[in-house]
Amino acid sequence: MTMTEQNRNAYLTAMGLPVWQPRARDVQIQTQYRDAKKSPEKLNIQPDDVVKEPENDTTDIKINTEKQISGLDWPELSSTAASCTACDLSTTRTQTVFGTGNKNADWLFIGEAPGAEEDKQGLPFVGRAGLLLSAMLFALGLERDDIYISNVLKCRPPNNRDPRPEEVSQCEVFLRAQINLIKPKVIIALGRHAAHSLLKTDKTLSSLRGQTHDFHGTPLVVTYHPAYLLRTPADKNKSWQDLCLANKLVQQ
Ligand code: URA
Repeated sequence: MTMTEQNRNAYLTAMGLPVWQPRARDVQIQTQYRDAKKSPEKLNIQPDDVVKEPENDTTDIKINTEKQISGLDWPELSSTAASCTACDLSTTRTQTVFGTGNKNADWLFIGEAPGAEEDKQGLPFVGRAGLLLSAMLFALGLERDDIYISNVLKCRPPNNRDPRPEEVSQCEVFLRAQINLIKPKVIIALGRHAAHSLLKTDKTLSSLRGQTHDFHGTPLVVTYHPAYLLRTPADKNKSWQDLCLANKLVQQ
């Protein structure tokens, strides 16, 4: 298997290692250097003219590392996400969908990725699935403003295709930073993709739901995605059981 530059960067990011990207100026210098070696007479520079930019110049670095993101406050974090170009979804999104709700919430709901309506409005869960989510919250005595909602991916995958592993690993730093700022009492993973991305497993959703998992010290409950429940209303009672389990964790 050949490893693409993007995959390599995704692995390094996932391992918490800094990813160095060539800056525009470095690329220009490297090209000049190569050309100068081929035909120095045609160029006004010599290989020895090559100079390195100062180490702390981060202009044009596009990959987000934990080191760059952790420690940012809410406005810095959301503006960093809004200008993120770490994966190709940045070229197809209308805007990033960072998350919304109470930044001190006990409950953090995490979906998969924005859909068409979310991409248009810049808010998570505003389509039909979002209406069902609001109804589920209402049944718990909660409103949207009582909880925080975000997604594993902050940008819409074209045609609502499944998130790709390299997109998940590039975007993960934002979610981790959001969780560190919110410090929720419980995280609800909505659906298979959110559960798989967060828990780093490929087990079935039915084997993951109905129990309490640990996400870096925060209890995490997996339940069905509201979009699935719209198609399979018979499973709503199982989702209700999951939310009741989560409610107990919040009340503890
Ligand atoms: N589905 C998701 O997983 N997230 C949204 O924001 C909307 C639909």
